[in-house]
Amino acid sequence: MSEMILIDSHAHYDDKQFDKDRMALLPEIHQAGIGAIINCATDLKTCETTLSLMKKFPFVYGAMGIHPHECKHYDVDDLEAVFAYATAHDKVVAVGEIGLDYHYDFSPRDTQQDFFCEQCELAIELELPIIVHSREAAQDTFDIVSEYAQADLTGVIHSYTGNLEMAERYIDMGFYIGIGGMITFPDVKKILRTVKEIPLERILLETDCPYLAPVPNRGKRNDSRNIPFIAAKIAELKGISVEEVAKVTTENVTRLFGIKI
Ligand code: NI
Repeated sequence: MSEMILIDSHAHYDDKQFDKDRMALLPEIHQAGIGAIINCATDLKTCETTLSLMKKFPFVYGAMGIHPHECKHYDVDDLEAVFAYATAHDKVVAVGEIGLDYHYDFSPRDTQQDFFCEQCELAIELELPIIVHSREAAQDTFDIVSEYAQADLTGVIHSYTGNLEMAERYIDMGFYIGIGGMITFPDVKKILRTVKEIPLERILLETDCPYLAPVPNRGKRNDSRNIPFIAAKIAELKGISVEEVAKVTTENVTRLFGIKI
């Protein structure tokens, strides 16, 4: 087990839930066998925090972008600032977290769509993959992603909750499927079926911490040390070893984001 290197492809250590201990916690997580963490910004303030964490910790990488929840606070011209953050450090590996959220509808849907499309264009210009958030917006997300995939855009659909057929279509377009703590929850048959059927070579492990801690830590503050529980569940579903899950999913992250471990 100690030989395994796991990567957390989606985390939010900028979150206020980590204000008290992030500087001490991140080295502990690295020591515990998490080889790299991609911290995903959600607005301009967290782009700044992400940049400072990347500078401080060699194993922290970053995604810069405006989340659908936050885009109502911004004007499309503010994406100039996202561009500046995305080019400010060579460990910026993606544009994210971007996408559509029709569950909360914190921002008007047309604003969400504008920001999603503009940031897909930004990613193409920067030659970076995207990290996509999609909640109760499966078809609109798919339509926008497929349009830009034709221009060689790739990325990951994070915390994937859609059906198997759509996952397969994303994979055909060169995308990866992000799997997190939800896989350990009861009543997630659709996700379990997807994970069972899609190739391991297309799965990324993620926590989305501080949210969505897997069983047995469900309900507590999540952090990247919970990644092995997600890996173990995938291994069980696919009938393979945890070591195999760790090896292949870590290769997947290095391939998609150009991270060298
Ligand atoms: Ni997230």
